[in-house]
Amino acid sequence: MSLLITGGTVIGPTGASPADVLVDGETIAAIYTPGAGPADTQTLDATGKYVIPGGIDAHTHMELPFGGTFASDTFDTGTKAAAFGGTTTIIDFAVQRTGEVVQDGLAAWHAKADGNCHVDYAFHMILGGVDDDSLKAMDQLVGEGITSFKLFMAYPGVFYSDDGQILRAMQKARDNGAIIMMHAENGIAIDVLVQQALARGETDPIYHGITRPEALEAEATHRAIMLAEVAQDCPLYIVHLSASRALAEVAAARDAGRNVFAETCPQYLYLTLEDQLGAPGFEGAKWVCSTPLRSKHESHQKDLWQGLRSNDLAVVSTDHCPFCFKDQKELGVGDFSKIPNGIGGVEHRVDLLYQGVVDGKLSLQRWVETIATTPARMFGLYPRKGVIAPGSDADIVVYDPNGRTRISVETHHMNMDHSAYEGYEIAGKVDTVISRGEILVSEGAYHGRAGRGKYLPRGLSTYLV
Ligand code: URP
Ligand code: ZN
Ligand code: ZN
Repeated sequence: MSLLITGGTVIGPTGASPADVLVDGETIAAIYTPGAGPADTQTLDATGKYVIPGGIDAHTHMELPFGGTFASDTFDTGTKAAAFGGTTTIIDFAVQRTGEVVQDGLAAWHAKADGNCHVDYAFHMILGGVDDDSLKAMDQLVGEGITSFKLFMAYPGVFYSDDGQILRAMQKARDNGAIIMMHAENGIAIDVLVQQALARGETDPIYHGITRPEALEAEATHRAIMLAEVAQDCPLYIVHLSASRALAEVAAARDAGRNVFAETCPQYLYLTLEDQLGAPGFEGAKWVCSTPLRSKHESHQKDLWQGLRSNDLAVVSTDHCPFCFKDQKELGVGDFSKIPNGIGGVEHRVDLLYQGVVDGKLSLQRWVETIATTPARMFGLYPRKGVIAPGSDADIVVYDPNGRTRISVETHHMNMDHSAYEGYEIAGKVDTVISRGEILVSEGAYHGRAGRGKYLPRGLSTYLV
C-alpha cells in the first residue's frame, strides 16, 4: 500500500523544506517537491505540520530488575506508550547481572520482548561482571547486532565494575568496534556518603541527590575518558549526563578530537533537586533517579541546553525506568537508598524537546538530530532509521506545531501511577505516527498492536571520528 504525505515541512539534520513524502509498503519511496507526487495514491494531509523521522529512544529499561522490584512497563505497555509519543524505535538494555552468563541475560531479554513490541526495538547489553567469559561474549554479541555495552561505575555489588574491569572491556571494544556506554558516577564514594547521611537520620528522598554530588559525576566521567584513552581511544558514550562539570569533561575530550560522546535526558533539562526531589514528605521519591536531578541554583540546565546546541551532547534519550509510587517507590519510605532508581518518560521525549524549540533553546534541525538522526548513526541503525530519505524505513511522525499537549497521569499510556511531568503543557502535538508504513497513531486513536515491532540487529556506529 502506498501513501503520499502532502503539504508538510520535512525536517532533517540539514534543514527544513516543504516536500511531499511517498511511502510504499514499509519504506520511503520518494520525496517530491510539493504537488509533484503521484495523483492516484492515498494521501495524508500534513499542511502546516512538520514531517520528521520517527523518534529513536536509545536508552530504555523495560522490566528492569532494580532494588527488589521491576520497572513497571513491559515491552508491550512501554512500546505502545513510546508510539503515542512519536518514538518508533527503542534501544533497551539487556542485563547480565553479576554472576550471570551474558548470553543467558540476552536470551531473557529476547524472551521478554519477542512478540510484545508495538515499535521496532534493539538491545544494548549491560555487563554486570567483566571477566574472561563476558569479554568473549562481547565478540559474539557484536556479531549478533548488539554493538554497545553499558558498564557501571556506580551501584557497587549490583552492576559495578572496577577500573581494571572497565579497561579490559574497553580494550575489547576497541578491538571489535563496539561502543562502551558508561554510567559515570563514583559509586564507592557515593556509598560512603549515603551511609553517613543515613546515620545522621537524613532519610528523605532529597538526600538521594545530595549524596550524589556533581563532583562524583565529573570525577567518574573524567576517569572513564582517561581509561578510554588508555584503551587507544575506545569509543565512549556517557549516559544520562546531568551536570555542568561532567559536560565540561566531555567537551574537553571532544575538543581534543576524541571518540567521546554523551546523552542527556529530559528530566535533567526540566526538573530540579529542589522542586522535585525536595517535594514535601515522601513525594520526592517519584524523581529518584541516577544520575540525580541537579540544583536549580547552579547552571546545569542552561549548560545542558548549550551542550545540545554545540553537539557536546549528541543525543537525548529518556532513561525510561518507571516505578509506581505505590508499593515500588514506597519501598524506600524511611530510607532513600531503598527507593528504586528511575523515572518514566518514553512517551514525552519528542514533545519535551520540541518545547525547547518553542522556547528558542534548540533549532528544529537539532531537535530532529538529537531525538532521531544521531541515535541512529551512533548505534548502527542509520540510514534504515533516523532520516526521511528514499530507501529508509517509513518511520514518520507528523508533528503539529499548532497543537497542544498536556502531560498527565490521567492521559499517559505508560504503566505508572504518576507522571514525572504532571501538568506540563507543550506548545506542540504528535499528530500522526507511522512505523514501517503502518499508521499507529492518528488523531489520538491507536491502530497498532503488540508483536508488530521487529527486533533490529545493529551495525557498528557510523558516528565515530
Ligand atoms: O535511575 C536510573 N537511571 N535507573 C535506571 C538504571 C540506570 O542507571 O540507568
Ligand atoms: Zn545508568
Ligand atoms: Zn538507564
